[in-house]
Amino acid sequence: MIQIRPTQPEDAGALLHLAGAEPLFSREEAETVDELLETYLEQEDHGGYFFLSAMENGKLLGFACYGPTPLTQGTFDLYWIAVSTPAKGKGVGRTLMAHVEDEVRKRGGRMLVLDTSGRREYAPTRAFYTSLGYTHAATLADFYAPGDDLIIFTRLLS
Ligand SMILES: CC(C)(COP(=O)(O)OP(=O)(O)OC[C@H]1O[C@@H](n2cnc3c(N)ncnc32)[C@H](O)[C@@H]1OP(=O)(O)O)[C@@H](O)C(=O)NCCC(=O)NCCS
Repeated sequence: MIQIRPTQPEDAGALLHLAGAEPLFSREEAETVDELLETYLEQEDHGGYFFLSAMENGKLLGFACYGPTPLTQGTFDLYWIAVSTPAKGKGVGRTLMAHVEDEVRKRGGRMLVLDTSGRREYAPTRAFYTSLGYTHAATLADFYAPGDDLIIFTRLLS
């Protein structure tokens, strides 16, 4: 059974391995996960970055990172979510997102915003967000690179 809990220091190795092994993430993106995880684990207030780990029988299957968007009232960003390749398509991502949403509500959040890519490889990721009730709010053409649009999804949390 999948258990979601705040990421612990002992998860760091497996979490960074998972991010590094994710075919969709560039090396720079995996390094960003590393930087945010260090901030979360080392700063008392977590620097505004909160990580959740999805565990099964002591094994890390996925993680998510979210936090309050600076200078907003009740808006939160989902910074990262990833599920290990063998665990994909089995409901781990859905369970992680449900916990992120619960945590955001507990922290007084009313809106969750997330960015993704318009590239073809990200079609399953976009389908994932749509299936969870996220709305395609905006597209910024060629934002990441020529031919690589930024797609912004949002969800109002009640
Ligand atoms: C996106 C991701 C987090 C989804 O996690 P997951 O555990 O594989 O997804 P789930 O099994 O919880 O799927 C939930 C729903 O999303 C949709 N979905 C998931 N994978 C899908 C796919 N490959 N194609 C189409 N829809 C998909 C389905 O509607 C699914 O519901 P169903 O199983 O009842 O049909 C995971 O696939 C992943 O790590 N992708 C690579 C990293 C990434 O893109 N991260 C986001 C960066 S912006």
